[in-house]
Amino acid sequence: MWWLKDVWVIDPSQKVSGPQDVLVKGGQILEISSGMTEEEVLGKAQGESLETINGKGKFVFPGLIDVHTHLREPGQEDKEDILSGSRAAVRGGFTTILAMANTHPPIDSRALVEFVLRQGERAGYAHVLPIGTVTKGMQGSELVEMADMKAGGAAAFSDDGKNIQNPEVMRLALEYAKLTGFPIISHCEDKDLAGEGLMRRGVTSGRMGLRGIPASAESVIVARDLILAEETGGKLHLAHISTAESVELIRRAKARGVDVTAEVNPHHLIFCDEEIGITDTVLKVNPPLGSRGDREALIEGLADGTIDMIATDHAPHTQAEKTRPFAEAPFGIASLETALSAVWQYLVLPGRLSFDRVVEAWSVTPAQRFGLNGGTLKPGVSADMVLFDPDFKEEINSTTLVSKARNTPFLGKTWQGFPVMVWVEGRLVQRDRTVI
Ligand code: DOR
Ligand code: ZN
Repeated sequence: MWWLKDVWVIDPSQKVSGPQDVLVKGGQILEISSGMTEEEVLGKAQGESLETINGKGKFVFPGLIDVHTHLREPGQEDKEDILSGSRAAVRGGFTTILAMANTHPPIDSRALVEFVLRQGERAGYAHVLPIGTVTKGMQGSELVEMADMKAGGAAAFSDDGKNIQNPEVMRLALEYAKLTGFPIISHCEDKDLAGEGLMRRGVTSGRMGLRGIPASAESVIVARDLILAEETGGKLHLAHISTAESVELIRRAKARGVDVTAEVNPHHLIFCDEEIGITDTVLKVNPPLGSRGDREALIEGLADGTIDMIATDHAPHTQAEKTRPFAEAPFGIASLETALSAVWQYLVLPGRLSFDRVVEAWSVTPAQRFGLNGGTLKPGVSADMVLFDPDFKEEINSTTLVSKARNTPFLGKTWQGFPVMVWVEGRLVQRDRTVI
C-alpha cells in the first residue's frame, strides 16, 4: 500500500486541485482525503506493507495518455520498439500510449493489431493501445475492416504520416467511424500543396532557400474534414494542429456542433520556424513549425479549449538519418521523455498554461474522447498515476534517455521539474527517473 502524504492532487475529472492524501491499495486508488492519521492508514492497510511518501511540494495526477506515439515496431526497430518506447513513456509520465499505425508493414489487419497489443503487454510498462490504419497499406483507397480490428483491440484509426487525399475515402471512413464509435484521426496535409516542402513557407524558408510548405496545406484539409464530419456525423480527431487558421476553423466548427477534437504537439507550442537553422534537422518536423503568430494561436486555443488535447507525436529516428542534410533528413522529434517537463518549463512556469489544464488536456480528455481507462483518480480505479516534483533537477543527455532515439532539441538542457514516480495499475514502474 502507498500513502502519498500532503501532496497536491490535480484531478480535473473530479474537479480536485489541492493538498490531499492519496492511498493506493491492491493496485487501485483507495481514497483521496485530507488529514489522515497514521493509525487510520495502518488500519486500512490491513497487514499490507505500507510505503509512505512525503508529497509536500509535489503534484500527483492521473497518468498521462498520449494519443500520438510512433513506436516503429514492426519493421523499424532500429529507431524504436515497443519495449523501448513504452519504457520511455513511463519515464516521461505516460501510463497509456496510442501506437501510430505507420509501421512497416502498417497496422491494417486484426492480426497486426493483436501483435502490437501483445508486445505492449509483454513489455509491461505503459498500456500500449494500437491504432489501426484507415486504409489498406495506407494507400488511401480501400478501407480496412474497422469492426474486426476494433474487436482485436484497435483504439482508433489513422493513416497518420500521410493525408487521406481522396475526400470520398475520408467521407466513407467517417461513416464507418460512426459504427465503431471511434474517432478517425486525421493527418491534415494536402499532398499537392505541401509538395516536396521541407519547412513552413515564409520569410525564414525564403532566407534559407528551402522549399516551403504553405500553411494552407494543413488548413484546406482541416476545412474539408470538418465539412465531412458535419455531413456524416462521424467522430473526427485532428492530429498535430499547427496553424492559426486551423484553430479558427475548429473554433467555428465546434460552435456549429461538429463532433471534432484536436491535439497540439509540445514542439508547436514551444518553437517557431525562425528558430530553425540549416543544420537543425532536429527541428524538421511534420507539420512544420509555424510562425510566432501560429504559436500564439495554438497556446490560446489550448487554453480556451478549442484545442482539446496535447499529444507528443513522438517520432523516433536514428542519428544516422537525422544527421543527413536538411533536405534528406526525416521529419520528426522524439519526445516521450521530455514532453511533460518541456511543457512545464516553457508554458506552465511562465504562466501561459495552468498545470490543471495540462493534466486535463493530456489525460482526462484523451481518456474520455477515446473511451479509455485512466484519466482519473476516482476511488476504485486502477492506479495509473504520476508524482511530479517541481524541484527535481536533471540534465537531458543521451546517457539517461531510455528511448533508442536521440532526436530531441533538448539535449544538454538542465531543467527543474520532472515526473519522479510513475505507477501503472498500482505497480511502481519509474522512480527518481529510473525505469524499474
Ligand atoms: O514529424 C512527423 N513524423 N510527422 C508525422 O506525421 C509522421 C512522423 C513519423 O512517422 O516520423
Ligand atoms: Zn502526422
